[in-house]
Amino acid sequence: MRFDIITVLPGLLESPFAHSILQRAQKKGLAEIHVHDLRDYSENKHKSVDDYPYGGGSGMVMQIEPFANCIEKLQSEREYDEIIFMTPDGITLNQDIANGLSLQKNIIILAGHYKGIDQRIRDIYVTKEISIGDYVLSGGELPAAIVVDAVVRLLPGVLSDETSALSDSFQGELLDAPVYSRPADWRGHKVPDVLLSGNQAKIEQWRYEQSLKRTQERRPDLLD
Ligand code: ADE
Repeated sequence: MRFDIITVLPGLLESPFAHSILQRAQKKGLAEIHVHDLRDYSENKHKSVDDYPYGGGSGMVMQIEPFANCIEKLQSEREYDEIIFMTPDGITLNQDIANGLSLQKNIIILAGHYKGIDQRIRDIYVTKEISIGDYVLSGGELPAAIVVDAVVRLLPGVLSDETSALSDSFQGELLDAPVYSRPADWRGHKVPDVLLSGNQAKIEQWRYEQSLKRTQERRPDLLD
């Protein structure tokens, strides 16, 4: 699977993909992540990508030309299944959306800045608008990295334990049960006895009950 992220701040995306699972997925050839500097597609000598809004008002608007140039160059090289714009007024990212995206082959993600991007980019090119939650960040780069992370970890072969993405909270209807590791007793705070019992059936039953309890307490909406 291939991601192409278009941004004015490519440096912001150097680190998130260079560690751990995302790095391994790329090394194994399961995911390709390309970051494109929007300024390289600007048509003026100052390499600017934004201008004043028509009709007045504060803030600058990202112009259509650099985005169009970059998107059309990418589209001349391969077909894209989705062109996603990260924006707080998009549909809120959830596991279903991540699952759906993980079945695609090539995805472009646009990371916006300033006051917004020219509406025509959204009308003409964008196929999906995604928010990562009801709060406003200073740009779409971190949201784009979150989408890539949520999707890449679902690709077959990325996680060493094939089943572990499937057993995540949100992948079923229940949140995960609490987990513990050594020591069994830390300053008097003990690991629940059942986890040390060696009785796998009992452990599974306990985990299920804990998942249910946690979901009822924290996310009763998931049980509706
Ligand atoms: N850009 C700025 N804030 C955002 C958000 N909450 N989700 C997606 N993109 C954004």
